[in-house]
This record gives sequence, structure tokens and C-alpha cells, in this order.
Amino acid sequence: MIMGKRRDIAGFERSAADAARALLDAASVSVVSHIDADGITAAAIASAALSRSGVEHTIRFVKKLDDAEIERINAESQERVWLVDLGSGSFSKLDRSRVVVSDHHRPDTSPPQGMVDLFSFDSHHVNPHLFGLDGAIEISGAGATYVVAKAMDPTNIDLAALAVIGAVGDFQDNAEGRLAGYNRRILKDAVASGRVNACTDLRLFGRETKPLHIFLQFSSDPALLPVLRETQEASFYRADNALDVDRQLCVDFLSDLGVELKDGERWRSWGCLGKEEKKRVASELCIRMLDCGRGLTAIRRLIGEVYVLDPRLVDAPEGWMTEGGGVDIADDEVSWHPNARALLDAKETATLLNACGRHDRAEVGMAICLGDRGESLATALQEQDNHRIALRTAIRLVQEDPSFSVREDAELPSLRYFHGQDQIGDTIVGIVAGMLLGSPGVPDDRPLFAFAQAIEDGATVKVSARGTRDLVRRGLDLAVVMKIASEAVGGTGGGHNAAAGASLPLGSEMEFLHQADEILRRQLSL
Ligand code: C5P
Ligand code: C5P
Ligand code: ZN
Repeated sequence: MIMGKRRDIAGFERSAADAARALLDAASVSVVSHIDADGITAAAIASAALSRSGVEHTIRFVKKLDDAEIERINAESQERVWLVDLGSGSFSKLDRSRVVVSDHHRPDTSPPQGMVDLFSFDSHHVNPHLFGLDGAIEISGAGATYVVAKAMDPTNIDLAALAVIGAVGDFQDNAEGRLAGYNRRILKDAVASGRVNACTDLRLFGRETKPLHIFLQFSSDPALLPVLRETQEASFYRADNALDVDRQLCVDFLSDLGVELKDGERWRSWGCLGKEEKKRVASELCIRMLDCGRGLTAIRRLIGEVYVLDPRLVDAPEGWMTEGGGVDIADDEVSWHPNARALLDAKETATLLNACGRHDRAEVGMAICLGDRGESLATALQEQDNHRIALRTAIRLVQEDPSFSVREDAELPSLRYFHGQDQIGDTIVGIVAGMLLGSPGVPDDRPLFAFAQAIEDGATVKVSARGTRDLVRRGLDLAVVMKIASEAVGGTGGGHNAAAGASLPLGSEMEFLHQADEILRRQLSL
């Protein structure tokens, strides 16, 4: 959010309506989007809205908006270029007479308070920050794009479900345990159109796709296994390894509460449980967390709002999900695999889309958003399996191999970092940083920076940084750190206050970190 800007929702919606008119008037549009879940849902919203209004268009996904990409955009042959979930950080370099941007990244231009922005006059820049709304937590790229789509045609409110998935994909429900600010208006549309149901429930990942015991055993935010290890008496059984012991603890915990793990030949997932069963398990988890000293903060992370989806999303055939509840028995205790029930939950769908985008198959994710339940879904589930393996391998590498481990440097007191070299993909290194921050051995009192060699050339390095909401409250703004420190070493970058990224010339990593550390010290008053 631009400091000191007055909250102006009407102004934000007016800018969306102006953008909608420009798009409806165009003979042809090129949509350009980002490869993560928010970008994919934003592209799906844009594509559906344009198709329904009969506007010819193409879709292109990009990993980042560097100078070469900007040149390509400015030279596009279509009458309009619609940038979704990107563009704001480089708005001043774009051809304003042709582009429409609906994005939530920190804009690179902003008028001084109280002055008319002559540069933006007559240009189409739909960004919450320009109207005093916080783009990091209250509206995503898909959300900003949805507001334009709704202005194109009010019947587009069925697309709001996709904007809910985009917001959840960008972790916008994490700060308060539920969507907040402008996102609640979008949620209201999603609920009104019958595509989303918002309920209070456990917010752990895997509500629909994981067998119950695995859902508890591998939970991480908060982790429940340490709680069960402290509070659940181990039953007598033959355990071959530690994983079996942990699994049995979770199985015993559920059995003691009278919860059946199976329904005939299928594992039950959390989503299959009735209200009473859920209440029993959730209450017991809270009691045990308090018993072993986990405070209210952990409980607030455990319980919050979740978003149950109508798996048709936009245009999938009625009744395509014909199988009954539960997870296939072949997904046994240890070898859980992603499955189609992901499309019943916003967070799980976002992960499925992220797996596509981060592994170069963003168009497959978009096809799922728009209703393809055939080959695209099968491909996406396979991509998610690969994604899980890639993340697990990367995390192990950093945790176990000293040459990749997280470093602390007395000369860089306000950050920690690791370098994945060519062993961690540049599209997943940010996710790995987010998962490691706050894990054992990586305290979350400072932001974590993560490098990886860029895949497409040998001359660039990708850097991602992740921080916490607590650090943001203390003044952290990684978007500013990334932009200034990367430009100081000849790179480009940007993003949000708690999550940002940049591209740098290979070899400039230490110089970049020194620049970043200096800015961080000022932000965090160290
Ligand atoms: O470009 P975009 O805004 O969609 O990307 C934001 C990225 O930052 C997402 O991929 C999301 O996974 C990540 N993020 C994060 N932790 C946060 C907020 C966002 O890892 N607290
Ligand atoms: O790639 P990563 O997940 O770390 O991206 C985090 C955020 O930083 C995203 O919102 C992304 O759009 C932004 N970013 C950027 N410029 C880059 C790389 C990432 O603005 N070169
Ligand atoms: Zn986004």
C-alpha cells in the first residue's frame, strides 16, 4: 500500500470499469500472466471474460517481467496487451497507450499525495496500492483481474471462485486465518454464485486429499506430531521404523476418539468427517496443544476459515466427480498421492495449479480452472507428484548437505541465506525458502534469502526472499529490498512485503546481500 493514501474502493472499482471498457472495445487482446497459482487463476478469469464477450485473444505465461519481456510486450501485434498478476512493478516502462494492467504488486510509479498522476492519466492501471488498499493481503492478481471481469459483465461473478483460489495461493488468508479486506467482497460474490462455501475448520493442508492419519502426521502449520508425541500413549505394536511409530500415534489418537479411518475400501479424508466427529477431533487437538504449552497463537493458526469449492469451478461438466467420498486405498499409509479431490478445496487447488506453473505447464492449470477434467487434470496430478518430490529433495539438500546449508554471516546481521546453485530449480527456490523459514534450525526472526542458478541461461541468478507477518509489522518490506538491492548490482526485482524475488548477474550475490542487509537494517531499525 502506498503510505498515506486514502482508502478509495470506489476509485479502485472505477479504474477497473475503465479498463473493462478498453478491453471490450479492442479488436484483439494478448493476455500475459505469471506462472504461479494466482497468475494462472488471473489468466483463466481474463480468458473466460474475453471469450464470453467475444473478444479474440491469446494467452502467454512468463516467469518474470524483465527488459526483454517488456520489449516483447511493447511490440505485440494485438491492439491491447492485458497484463494480469504482473506489470505494476514495471508500469513506467510499458507502452501506456496499449496496456491494461490488473495486478497487486508494488507499483513503480506513484503520484505524491494529493497530486493528480499525470503519467497515469488515461492509462489503465488497476492496482489496489494506488487506491490505499493493501495488495499484499487484501487483493491478489486474480482478484484485481476479477474486478475488471465483473465490470465487463456482471454475470461473470461465477469467476469469483477463481479469485478466491488466487488469493489463497498467494497466502492472503494467512495473516488473519481468513481472507480479509477487499477479498471478503470477492468471497461474497463467490458464495453468492454458489461456487464457494466458507466454513470454520482446521486450516491444515490436505483436508480433502489425504487419508486422516497422514493429514495429522505431516501437518506443518502448526505441526501436530510433536503434540501427539508428548500426549498420546504409544500402543503395543510391531514398529519397523520411526515413521511407523509416528503413524501409529496418529491412528491411535483418532481411534481413541472413535473416528473410523476407512469407509469400506477407501480411506476417509478430513472432508469426509461429519460435524460431530470434526468437533471431537478439533477440541481434543486444542486441549492437547494447550496441555503441552502451545499457546493461543498456534490454535489460531490451526483453526480458521477454509474455502470449500464446487469442483465444477467454472465450466466443468456436472457430476464429473462421480466417485464417492474418501481417498483411494492404493494411497496407503506412506505413499499418499495427489488426487482429484484437491478441486474441493481452495488451498489444495492452488497447490495443484502452482505445481503446473512452476514446472512449465501453466496452460494445463488454466485448462483445469476453465473446466477441463480429462487429460489436463491427469497431467496436473502427475506434475503435483513431481513437485512434491522436487520440494522434498530441495529441503533435504539444504538441511543435510553442508555446502547448501542456511548461512549466517556476522557482516549480514539482518538476514540468513542459502544457495541452491544448479541443484534447486529457480521456480521453486522461493517456495523452498518459505517452507524452511521457521523450521528447526532456521529461526524466523530474520528474512531468509534463497539463490538458484537461472535455468534458461548460465549468466543469471534467481533470488527469492521470504519473511513473516511479524517482521512486516516491524517494518519489513522485501519488495523494496529486492528492487533497490537488485538494481544496485544490475538486476531487476520486486514483489510484496513478505515475499519478493529478483534476477541478478551471476557472481553478484554477496554484493547484493550487503545492499539488502543495509536496507533491512533501516527497515527493522537494527
Ligand atoms: O507474483 P505473485 O504475487 O502471484 O506471487 C506471490 C508469491 O509469493 C506466491 O507464489 C506465494 O507463494 C508467495 N508468498 C509466500 N509467502 C507469503 C506471501 C506470498 O511464499 N507470505
Ligand atoms: O519467484 P518468487 O516466488 O520468489 O516470487 C515472489 C514474488 O516476487 C512474486 O510476487 C513475484 O512476482 C515477485 N518477483 C518479481 N521479480 C522477479 C522475481 C519475482 O517481482 N524477478
Ligand atoms: Zn499474485
